[in-house]
Amino acid sequence: MSTDYTPRPEHRFSFGLWTVGWQGVDPFGVATREPMDPAYAVEKLAELGAYGVTFHDDDLFGLGSPETDREAKISSFRKALDATGLIVPMATTNLFSHPVFKEGALTANDRDVRRYALRKVLRNLDLAAELGAKTYVLWGGREGSESDVAKDVRASLDRYKEALDILCAYVREQGYDIRFALEPKPNEPRGNVFLPTIGHAIAFIGELEEPDRVGLNPEVGHEQMAGMSVVHGYAQALWHKKLFHIDLNGQNGPRYDQDLRFGNGDVKTAFLLVDLLEHEGYDGPRHFDFKPGRIEDESGVWESARACMRNYLIFAERAAAFRADPEVAAAFADARVGELSTPTLADGESLADLRSEEFDLEQAALRGAKVEKLDQLALEHLFGTR
Ligand code: GCO
Ligand code: MN
Ligand code: MN
Repeated sequence: MSTDYTPRPEHRFSFGLWTVGWQGVDPFGVATREPMDPAYAVEKLAELGAYGVTFHDDDLFGLGSPETDREAKISSFRKALDATGLIVPMATTNLFSHPVFKEGALTANDRDVRRYALRKVLRNLDLAAELGAKTYVLWGGREGSESDVAKDVRASLDRYKEALDILCAYVREQGYDIRFALEPKPNEPRGNVFLPTIGHAIAFIGELEEPDRVGLNPEVGHEQMAGMSVVHGYAQALWHKKLFHIDLNGQNGPRYDQDLRFGNGDVKTAFLLVDLLEHEGYDGPRHFDFKPGRIEDESGVWESARACMRNYLIFAERAAAFRADPEVAAAFADARVGELSTPTLADGESLADLRSEEFDLEQAALRGAKVEKLDQLALEHLFGTR
């Protein structure tokens, strides 16, 4: 990682067109910024040192725009990609903005809507493959309900599974080098969204016909909205080999989806998350899904995009220093952190061996965990005092 904190393509930072292009429309107010041309966003992101850009179909061309218009928009985007060398690591479908999706998309009660949603995904999958995307994200913002009376959750999961099975088969038949990544979120815009946490999504994937083609795109803020530990969730996704893609941003506890720039919000979690990703060898894109504050003008958009990447690099550098510190190594040993990697039963040991072992119960209960010192060392590395 760099020590001057200058983002470069080898760091694999990427941004959604909808992030830097967010105009600031919220439930209480209209846009505060002008629309941003996708080709311009590509140029600016490349200038800042990102390597990738991601998009929803509707970010590139208006829903239902005439074919010639769609082609022109794609071609201008493609030209900007070619000129800058930016790639498209991931693409996704907007299944939430149009009123037709108000009651759901792939899990709408209305079968016609489900069939339209599936067509919309299939069409953008072809474009994603053409542009070289390796991951296709499915975030089901409208899949859910406010009333448990009017939604059959088990039938919804059947339909969600049906859609994923169809999409996996399509990708296989077309020979696309694409994997799907489900993005959990507990609520917003629906009162309750299906697959609300990393755990729900992992369990769901296990029921699919081609589970190997489907993983996760967890978002920092979404887990925190659900009161979950981000580090535990991402680590479990890694353990299941399901961390296909990530959405990095900032959030302050369980409240509305704040989508703050990465580093704002829960700083310690952000630091420990970067430590996990770097230390455990996550090799996918470092993708930011944040909203540049509605109170900013365009300069604030680029300031915050740059800061997302810079903060990641600062955390990575601090995490590396933390792990290289001899006092930290000693504190790790004192806290027996490495000991947890030793299997509880040795190779060939029998339960009879286990049962016959001497154990000083009172003595073991007296031992302190020695975590406070290690935790403080982590903080001091984060603060930059070591
Ligand atoms: C949100 C989500 C979205 C998705 C995006 C990609 O809370 O709005 O995070 O930004 O990530 O739709 O699928
Ligand atoms: Mn979000
Ligand atoms: Mn997201």
